[in-house]
Amino acid sequence: MAGFRALGLDSWLASQAEQLGLSRPTPVQEACIPPALQGRDCMGCAKTGSGKTAAFVLPILQKLSEDPFGIFSLVLTPTRELAYQIAEQFRVLGKPLGLKDCIIVGGMDMVSQALELSRKPHVVIATPGRLADHLRSSNTFSLRNIKFLVLDEADRLLEQGCTDFTKDLEVILAAVPANRQTMLFSATLTDTLNELKKIAMNKPFFWESISEVRTVEQLDQRYLLVPEKVKDAYLVHLVQTFQDEHEDWSIIIFTNTCKTCQILNMMLRKFNFPSVALHSMMKQKQRFAALAKFKSSVFKILIATDVAARGLDIPTVQVVINHNTPGLPKIYIHRVGRTARAGRHGIAITLVTQYDIHLVHAIEEQIKMKLQEFSVEEQTVLKILTQVNVVRRECEIRLEATDFDEKKEINKRKQMILEGKDPDLEMQRKAELAKIKKQKLKFQSQVQQTLQERQQKQLQHKLIKRARRQQKQKQAK
Ligand SMILES: Nc1ncnc2c1ncn2[C@@H]1O[C@H](COP(=O)(O)OP(=O)(O)OP(=O)(O)O)[C@@H](O)[C@H]1O
Ligand SMILES: [Mg+2]
Repeated sequence: MAGFRALGLDSWLASQAEQLGLSRPTPVQEACIPPALQGRDCMGCAKTGSGKTAAFVLPILQKLSEDPFGIFSLVLTPTRELAYQIAEQFRVLGKPLGLKDCIIVGGMDMVSQALELSRKPHVVIATPGRLADHLRSSNTFSLRNIKFLVLDEADRLLEQGCTDFTKDLEVILAAVPANRQTMLFSATLTDTLNELKKIAMNKPFFWESISEVRTVEQLDQRYLLVPEKVKDAYLVHLVQTFQDEHEDWSIIIFTNTCKTCQILNMMLRKFNFPSVALHSMMKQKQRFAALAKFKSSVFKILIATDVAARGLDIPTVQVVINHNTPGLPKIYIHRVGRTARAGRHGIAITLVTQYDIHLVHAIEEQIKMKLQEFSVEEQTVLKILTQVNVVRRECEIRLEATDFDEKKEINKRKQMILEGKDPDLEMQRKAELAKIKKQKLKFQSQVQQTLQERQQKQLQHKLIKRARRQQKQKQAK
């Protein structure tokens, strides 16, 4: 308790933290809480599972207790599940204050959210898209007086990935006061440092945990070389082995698309594994239900897309399996960080096919360590190979019979409409672009062919000339 007290936190808050098992501050908390209490902007880059959440929740709660009003603080985060998790931390740590929080995320009822916002909660935890929608469409609440703005997983919020938050962030930043205190956190801040500094304008205090390796020491990181076509048999074998050997272990399997996620879940279910899926094409209620089942260990296997890669804190997760090698080292760091959290041990196994070896090298370069090979009994895998492939095919056929692809199309169109684009025009533009690309490729290959023909002719010409010369020389002799 003295630890948190020594950082400048009040005794009620320090004892609340202790009751919740936070006995001593972690390095990121020790470094960031004092400057945050002094009113400085903060940027904290610390490994996964190192307690970054409490590093911003605790100083906010202390300041809130000194001058309680709503809306006091705004926390932004890239995923809906993470927003609920952060709200939970605020709620339990801020219980003695009677903290009122409000979660504003997509996929939930907008009217009741608007009502909650108008009741001036102390803390709003939101995903940028939905909060920006509220700001655009209503004037029943104001963010003009907020004291704290937090961007958790800040680098992701600024990234222009498949979900691009930049436009929504612009709306939100225009609605918050310039004299706020800004706090930015992530396990991978460094690439986006310059952009982040534009948000934390107040000469931010920057803290990065110094370590040779960018992943957690207690994490055993392995790779398993597998031919693309037999990947699933290896996956089933791995899951079976972990389940046989450890009764209480939970596993997260990461995969690259919603469809693969769905198929793998169906496939593992067919083999009687207790698995649930989590991806962005599921309804929000199903997403929460799946996560709740996994968290309570009713289902020991979670198959997820990168929607679950960042921030989620589930202590029972002992194993992370990457069904696909992540294309970006950053994503690898967050995915494997779902295990070996808060000093616990864990193992991460990445399935690597013949096409992914360069990706592993990029990951190793970023995390500054080599992955070790994970060995399995190939014979056992071979025995189940045909059965696994047949089951996978069956699942694919079953999924095709549903309207999964159609739903995906509808979702894409919805997204475009939300972004203010005309889906038909976009499709037309895409088709035209594809046509131009095709023509360009055709032209390039024609040019190449002509060049080759010309080169060949020149070569032939040269050879004929040489042969003639040689003949002349012979005759002259
Ligand atoms: N001082 C502490 N002592 C012990 N456990 C702690 C402490 N601070 C936080 N924890 C626990 O550590 C776990 C991980 O914390 P948290 O989710 O904040 O990590 P993080 O750094 O945000 O990770 P990520 O980068 O994955 O988001 C949580 O279960 C939290 O309760
Ligand atoms: Mg976090």
